Amino acid sequence: MLDAIYDANIGSYLGMPVYLSNGKMFGTVCAIDPEPYAFNDQEIEAIERLSSLVSVILENATRSSYDEYNDKLMRLEKLALLGQLSAGLAHELRNPMQSVRGFVQLLFEDKKEEHYRDIVLGELDRINDLVSDFLLVTQPTAPKRVDHDLKQIVTDTVEFIESEATLHNVEITLSLKTPKTHVSVDESQIKQVLINVLKNAIEAGCKEKGKVDIEVNTYNDHEVVIEVTDNGSGIPISIIGRIGEPFFSTKEGGTGLGLSISQRIIQEHKGTIRFENGEDGTKVIIGLPLLERKASDDELPVRESYAY
Ligand SMILES: Nc1ncnc2c1ncn2[C@@H]1O[C@H](COP(=O)(O)OP(=O)(O)OP(=O)(O)O)[C@@H](O)[C@H]1O
Ligand SMILES: [Mg+2]
Repeated sequence: MLDAIYDANIGSYLGMPVYLSNGKMFGTVCAIDPEPYAFNDQEIEAIERLSSLVSVILENATRSSYDEYNDKLMRLEKLALLGQLSAGLAHELRNPMQSVRGFVQLLFEDKKEEHYRDIVLGELDRINDLVSDFLLVTQPTAPKRVDHDLKQIVTDTVEFIESEATLHNVEITLSLKTPKTHVSVDESQIKQVLINVLKNAIEAGCKEKGKVDIEVNTYNDHEVVIEVTDNGSGIPISIIGRIGEPFFSTKEGGTGLGLSISQRIIQEHKGTIRFENGEDGTKVIIGLPLLERKASDDELPVRESYAY
């Protein structure tokens, strides 16, 4: 040991152990001088402080990555369990529902009862949609990709959701700010993502007049970005980490599957989806990979804005 110290040319050494909260020693923070030297009280105190600081930093670093890992594991376990459950559930529910549907149509032959028939059929369709949603979260189908103009998909979706927005007294504006919108996507899956995000924005609970702004833009040659901004209550910091967790919902009657499905779909398309809390409201940013730029892109009008 003395030889090692001699070889390392250590004249004086001041070391302070770094302990973790479980009492285990992690290592030592030390100061070394090649000359013999008597460290003074101030220097000893500084090393002591440094050692406590390192112990806090280490503790935080290991804890947050451990928590993150645990979170991911819990999500995966939940999804695996859901996968098994939903496959069975879908099978068990769909067959009897099909026969109920048939009998309901036969039963309500009287014109006066058409209204009741429609209610029952509507509810059956809702159950069917829910079962499909379960399946999509847990056993997503690979996207059937076709070349599309994203602007068309966004415009169609906004038109589809417009009546819902009006019902909630929410005004939607759409700005198409880029000619680069050629993507290879599964149209119905991307529409589903947009519907989920737009529905959340419409339901975001704004005190005054609700506003939802959609912007389609590009900031580079690789990705087209859809930004959906609402002026609702925002996502509380305490739950932002749980967004996308299957069945996590703060809404009465919410299934908590909307964003979980959306994250899966965007992941399958090699895109990104992020959530930002703004001054007032939430911004959802969806990025999708762009296809090669086409010559006709330049002919497309830029900066189109629509109000709905
Ligand atoms: N734009 C938003 N503003 C505020 N909170 C939001 C917004 N979008 C999502 N959230 C929060 O995220 C949660 C999960 O959203 P998600 O769409 O997955 O489920 P949901 O809307 O509750 O139910 P549903 O399955 O019917 O969509 C919501 O319950 C809400 O708390
Ligand atoms: Mg939702």
